[in-house]
Amino acid sequence: MTIPGPGRKSSAMPTTMMTAPMAATPNRRNSCIVFNKAHPPSDSTGGTLLSPGGFGEGGIQSGDMEGAVSFEAVMGLITARRTNLRIDPERPVDPALIGRLCRAATLAPNHRVTEPWRFAVLTGSARAALGEIAARQLATRGVTDPARVDKARGKYPCAPVVVAAGCETDADPIRHAEDRDAVAAGVQNLLLAASAAGLATYWATGATARSPETARVCGFEGGTVIVALIYLGWPTAPAPSGHRSALAITWAGGT
Ligand SMILES: Cc1cc2nc3c(=O)[nH]c(=O)nc-3n(C[C@H](O)[C@H](O)[C@H](O)COP(=O)(O)O)c2cc1C
Repeated sequence: MTIPGPGRKSSAMPTTMMTAPMAATPNRRNSCIVFNKAHPPSDSTGGTLLSPGGFGEGGIQSGDMEGAVSFEAVMGLITARRTNLRIDPERPVDPALIGRLCRAATLAPNHRVTEPWRFAVLTGSARAALGEIAARQLATRGVTDPARVDKARGKYPCAPVVVAAGCETDADPIRHAEDRDAVAAGVQNLLLAASAAGLATYWATGATARSPETARVCGFEGGTVIVALIYLGWPTAPAPSGHRSALAITWAGGT
């Protein structure tokens, strides 16, 4: 099986990274924080994501659905996306592509268009900072086995990019739940778009995602919960095949 992907290595990836909090841009709606001075926040993706249609700053122009993309192509993409941590940590991902993936996330359904998503793109030392958080968390749980601690430390740097997808909290629990749903839908958009671009993806959560320290590394304001830490990178091997049980559907009111 061949591994899809644009094949060429990009030279755009920064080799030196700033510490995350220093480089974070202010949070704002739809912001995509890129933790590197060399690359401005990648929110200027207007007009190129969808064709026909696309979007500008002011709105999303829907395209002609019929014929824009085939049903089989969409089903094929959904089927092809599988969690894959077999990623080349050294091969960079173009920041412009990452910006487009974050933009794809914001096109998810969103009740009342609250735009609750926040994104942080962690590369270089910011990924290492997550690894340190993961290692410290093990220590707080009494885990001292050096092999396990080292493994935790090396988790995030095993991909060149980790995108944190956060959700602003809302005092109203129903709205918060719906906002989280929207962010999760956005994450799936991102994963699918990344898969279409040939990238390997992995949605992680766990204690590190819940840690306030991680939110700080991401430059997220208090109250923003992390819905996904998404490993992104070029695959070194195909994803392991997935498994789903036989489908059970309750049909009500006839077919
Ligand atoms: C909300 C959510 C949280 C997840 N968190 C983790 C995680 O912390 N660690 C992990 O290994 N996988 C995590 N995953 C990925 C699932 O394990 C993965 O999707 C599942 O094994 C099915 O594999 P597939 O994506 O290839 O279909 C998470 C997925 C979701 C939707």
